[in-house]
Amino acid sequence: MTEEVEIADGIFAKRREFIVGSAASVAFLNLVNTFAAAQDSSTYQQFLDAANPLAKSLIGDTSTAGQDEYLHSIAALAAHIDAVPDPAAWNDSTQSFTPGTEIGFTPGGESFTVLHWRLAPNTEIRLHRHDYGNVVTLGLGGEARVRNFEVVSEDRDYVPGNIVRIRKTVDQQLTKGNINLVSLDRNNIHGFIAGPEGAHGLDITTRLKPRPEHGTPYLGVRDEALDDVRQIYEAEWQE
Ligand SMILES: [Fe+2]
Repeated sequence: MTEEVEIADGIFAKRREFIVGSAASVAFLNLVNTFAAAQDSSTYQQFLDAANPLAKSLIGDTSTAGQDEYLHSIAALAAHIDAVPDPAAWNDSTQSFTPGTEIGFTPGGESFTVLHWRLAPNTEIRLHRHDYGNVVTLGLGGEARVRNFEVVSEDRDYVPGNIVRIRKTVDQQLTKGNINLVSLDRNNIHGFIAGPEGAHGLDITTRLKPRPEHGTPYLGVRDEALDDVRQIYEAEWQE
């Protein structure tokens, strides 16, 4: 028999699932309870206090489902972040053809790295694949279009100049408080196009594998879909 219980403001769970969940899940729910009870919108430090132990408890399961649980759990905490301290320095992202895309390191993550990004109006972070770590992206202000893709060709190796087929899985307007998730197995290609007022946000990235020898695998995607219904596009690996 199951009974619905409210585990945090407006968040309900079946009591039976609550009891039989993994130790990590229960630890997470306890953290969510503590976190949600603190206040509706938290400081960045409160996020770190909850997310650091949670990340350590979930990082070991790198299966597709394990990454999903990790990303959604971190995202649930990140959704409460209202503002973050300014980074000590801003650097060019190196992921754009033009100036105006910058990143700054925001300290405090223990098993993950927090990067603050800011995009000048109408600038673009090129489409690139994440091969060794997953990402929770949180919008903090402004507006950016975020697109995610996955390679559907059998040959998924990064070979500059080669053409592959990719599937668009997400096409989102990221505004303040919105979340976008990249795992090694889902949505692992992403790119950003800033709106007319620019945008800024956080990338909370967690390394799961050694960094590959090759550089960042960029892609140039064709404008017209090969298959519009299934959202399949041709794209070229680029340097
Ligand atoms: Fe990225």
